[in-house]
Amino acid sequence: MIEVDLIIKNADELLTLSPFFKDESRLGIIRNGAVAIKEGRIFWIGRAEELSERFTLGRGGQEIDAKGKTVMPGLIDAHTHLIFAGSRENEFEQRIQGLSYLEIADRGGGILSTVEATRKASFDELFSLGKKRLDRMLSKGVTTLEAKSGYGLSLEDELKILQVMKALQNNHPVEIVSTFLGAHTVPREFREARDRYIKLLAEEMIPRVAQEKLAEFCDVFCEEKAFTLEESKEILETGKRYGLKPKIHADQLSPGGGAELAAEVGASSADHLEYVSREGIKKMAEKGVTAVLLPGASFFLSTKKYPPAREMVEEGVSISLATDLNPGSSMTESLPLMMTMGCTMFKMTPREVIQGTTIHAARSMGREKEIGSLEIGKQADVLLLDIPNYRYFPYHFGVDHVEVVIKKGKVVCRRSEVHAP
Ligand code: NIG
Ligand code: FE
Repeated sequence: MIEVDLIIKNADELLTLSPFFKDESRLGIIRNGAVAIKEGRIFWIGRAEELSERFTLGRGGQEIDAKGKTVMPGLIDAHTHLIFAGSRENEFEQRIQGLSYLEIADRGGGILSTVEATRKASFDELFSLGKKRLDRMLSKGVTTLEAKSGYGLSLEDELKILQVMKALQNNHPVEIVSTFLGAHTVPREFREARDRYIKLLAEEMIPRVAQEKLAEFCDVFCEEKAFTLEESKEILETGKRYGLKPKIHADQLSPGGGAELAAEVGASSADHLEYVSREGIKKMAEKGVTAVLLPGASFFLSTKKYPPAREMVEEGVSISLATDLNPGSSMTESLPLMMTMGCTMFKMTPREVIQGTTIHAARSMGREKEIGSLEIGKQADVLLLDIPNYRYFPYHFGVDHVEVVIKKGKVVCRRSEVHAP
């Protein structure tokens, strides 16, 4: 008998997301499934019947009975703007009354108003705001997320945000993959001299971020109102020279060739893509660029223009879904809600939205060898869901199904109990 640290057994459906376990759902489902975890990693995975004769719990070990429930990999949120101060509920109300996102930005709202609030906030304030958001995400089943800077837009303020992310990483079970988004928009003080801001990005900010190892990716908001295609290319190429892998906010509010650029620079992902061109989709497929779709933004901005998810699937683009958590266009920490929206708005299937928040999300941040599926040797990031099958996850929406969250082999969250009076 081999001693392990944690055993989960009797799962009605164990979604491995591994091609190794073939079944008609294409989620690699093992019925009456079990997982054995040792030293933070998946040690064994298979049918519960085979488990008892091979494994036993070591001292302090724990066993979880998953009868009647579903077990799957921890969720991965591939696109968030985790660190910001202030809030913009006023804009939410203005939009309800008929103003558009861009009109509000033109009147002094939008990204720049959050930049102002974030610059004023101290490290500690941003840390505690970020921590609360991470807690909420964890309770929704998120075990890894990508987080972008981009509400500082000066060397000092961007570094502050990235350092807050680093501190959170050392103090919270949710794993953070950092992205530098100094090119979120041109800050007010450079409005009349955008070239100087791009120079600042390329000559000071990117080198410093890379030198201090504060980010793994470099992102650009490639959009009429933010950065042109040429500017975006220059920024991403500079990032690459400093070892930062490219990502793009592409074709969100207007068609702009962002997807094509993502393919050209070899981006890990192109995100948003509401206005992506046919050519852009083809090129993304060819170069293996993951599409990160953000239904929360379409929903929250009440835009009718959706990314053509079905066309992407047909062309062979791998799709991930994310929250885009930010105070302007998607104020939510709920990735499960995005799964439901992916189904109803973008016509993705339950299988596709589960892949999109696990293995495809891992791929969008170059982590597919470590996380995103339950396979021997991979990090043990696992969820226990109180649902009888995987389709229930997006189907029964707006409520919490997550019962236990395991990160690197440790139980880090249990559903809070309701107490009788
Ligand atoms: O991803 N597209 C740019 N950035 C955010 C919105 C930021 C904001 O409004 O504060 C987005 O939608
Ligand atoms: Fe975004």
